[in-house]
Amino acid sequence: MQGTGAMNVPARQPGRHFLQIPGPTNVPDRVLGAIALPTIDHRGPAFAALASEVLSQIRTIFKTGQPVIIYPSSGTGAWEAALVNTLSPGDRVLMAETGHFAMLWREMAERLGVQPEVIPGDWRHGADPAAIEARLAEDRGHSIKAVCVVHNETSTGAVSRIEEIRRAIDRAGHPALFMVDTISSLASIDYRHDEWGVDVTVGGSQKGLMLPPGLGFNAVSPKALAASESARLPRSFWDWQAMLAANTKGFFPYTPASNLIHGLREAIAMLHEEGLDNVFARHARHGEATRQAARAWGLEIQCADPREYSGSLTALVMPDSHSADGVRAHILRRFNLSLGNGLSKLNDRVFRIGHLGDFSDVMLAGTLSGVEMGLRERGVALAGSGVAAALDYLSRTNLRPNGPAGS
Ligand SMILES: Cc1ncc(COP(=O)(O)O)c(C=O)c1O
Repeated sequence: MQGTGAMNVPARQPGRHFLQIPGPTNVPDRVLGAIALPTIDHRGPAFAALASEVLSQIRTIFKTGQPVIIYPSSGTGAWEAALVNTLSPGDRVLMAETGHFAMLWREMAERLGVQPEVIPGDWRHGADPAAIEARLAEDRGHSIKAVCVVHNETSTGAVSRIEEIRRAIDRAGHPALFMVDTISSLASIDYRHDEWGVDVTVGGSQKGLMLPPGLGFNAVSPKALAASESARLPRSFWDWQAMLAANTKGFFPYTPASNLIHGLREAIAMLHEEGLDNVFARHARHGEATRQAARAWGLEIQCADPREYSGSLTALVMPDSHSADGVRAHILRRFNLSLGNGLSKLNDRVFRIGHLGDFSDVMLAGTLSGVEMGLRERGVALAGSGVAAALDYLSRTNLRPNGPAGS
């Protein structure tokens, strides 16, 4: 068929689409196969056995011995569940302006009738433990009921240091609940719900868990459960108590996303076959390779603090004279490769390379090649070849299937 436009784009693009946005991520065939199993009776014994197994196994991914609630929802629903189960109208919550997603969570809190107080940020750093400690130390009357932090800020690629924030809350001697959004870090960047003393961990299916969108998670501490008994924000669909009561027998209070739960069982098995530590090392290494490419191209990395670099994604700043969206659109058209856009105040200024989920060295090499060709074709002056730098790094730091081989 005759294509349209100067580039003569054909109706069909051969080869696989490269889905390199920072989630949803590429879903492996094994997970797709599990999701394609026949839909079963969600009130029957086969489902109860499946759900009981998955509700138990998912705890290993959050690194918790406490309940993990699974909603048929996107991550936004799991954000709402965390707030409405634990807070009452007018409660203060302390949040950190790490980027677009932290600000969306704040807007939600406002709409639900709690009072967010935001520690300002420049969208280039994670949440500052010292600033959180100082604000909590001032709050002698303990009017702040929760501290809410986004672990991996997907709009910037900056990771907040959750363990340090936990220590900061403890140093301030403050009883606030600690809630953490791990939507783009879970199963990609090390995370420990119990060890780090988190009260509610919010997760989603469509990133490190290698599933399509459609599941939201809350891992819940005993302290959060106790708070839910007196919390007065209205809730029905999101109510933890109803969920937990039904979950004890492997059921849900309403129709669960049963096919996605089949997929989740497979995804958890795959993560353990690889080994969670290997999964984290793979993501960290792909993040470093991508940054090496960025430096060789001469492009600035949005995350300004090397301690906070993300293994899930890298946001790159476009030189002033170029449109990040123009480059992304060109790369999609030419190479069938999707990259993440700049969100809200970073609109058209940055583009984001997702390197999370089911991802390998050659997939990264392909992605970076598409980016490099696209930048060149759009006339962006590059200092050198990012692809060459990344390949050099990848081959020097080869990972054997069961662990790092060294150089
Ligand atoms: C860190 C973070 N929080 C929250 C969300 C919102 O999740 P969802 O779009 O699944 O509702 C996203 C989505 O990308 C995210 O990356």
